[in-house]
Amino acid sequence: MVSETLKIRIKLFRDKKSFEIEYFYRKKFHEERPMVLDVLLQAQEEKIDDLSFRYGCRARNCGICTVDINGKPRLACRARVKEDDLISPLSTLPVIKDLIVKRDSIPRQMIGYNKIPYKNNLNVEAEASYHNLTACIECYACLDGCPLHKKNNLEVKDNNAYLYGNPFSFLKLQRLFIDPLTPEEEKKGIIEKAKSLGLETYRREYKKLKIKCGVGINLKDEVIKPLLNAAFGDQIEKKNE
Ligand code: FES
Repeated sequence: MVSETLKIRIKLFRDKKSFEIEYFYRKKFHEERPMVLDVLLQAQEEKIDDLSFRYGCRARNCGICTVDINGKPRLACRARVKEDDLISPLSTLPVIKDLIVKRDSIPRQMIGYNKIPYKNNLNVEAEASYHNLTACIECYACLDGCPLHKKNNLEVKDNNAYLYGNPFSFLKLQRLFIDPLTPEEEKKGIIEKAKSLGLETYRREYKKLKIKCGVGINLKDEVIKPLLNAAFGDQIEKKNE
């Protein structure tokens, strides 16, 4: 019988205090390299029955399981853990309890810009970039390192949208901008919305911008650059990166 364990640290948040606990994950077989989600599920089952975390598809499709591993955002259902790793809530969003963060102030930025203009179809005639952007699973890993999102007030106090944008918001706008179903007369409004969320900051910090998508979308090339070009006529080319 396998009795090997893996020591994992988990940061919990309760009664307005955060603290760290150690959990010894019981391996199911000798070579097992468990995912973060395996650890959390076992910890909840066997030791901390009120441990709070989110997951859905368990297959990198729904994007709600993101947590920080050693301070960097990772999908809990796809990231493996090793001895002494630290699992903590996303540092880029306010914590409600344990590993649960408040996500709604992000999509709320898109109120009025989430509609599919006239019909819902597969947009087969859209440019390749449009289809690349549909891979976004809203995991919010891209908030890490975003100079704009950093400026937001992250307190848990109301249901307002955050003032400043983030790669996710801009991805949604860019996708709408290149959606063949978006009428030409609405495109100006999309660019104005991007400007109102602080797009100018990305323009100033473009060269040192380090943002990473949780599912591998090239956010600089496929989102930020085309939006800057459309908004300011910058014509940023790859050689300037
Ligand atoms: S549980 Fe759906 S992406 Fe991880």
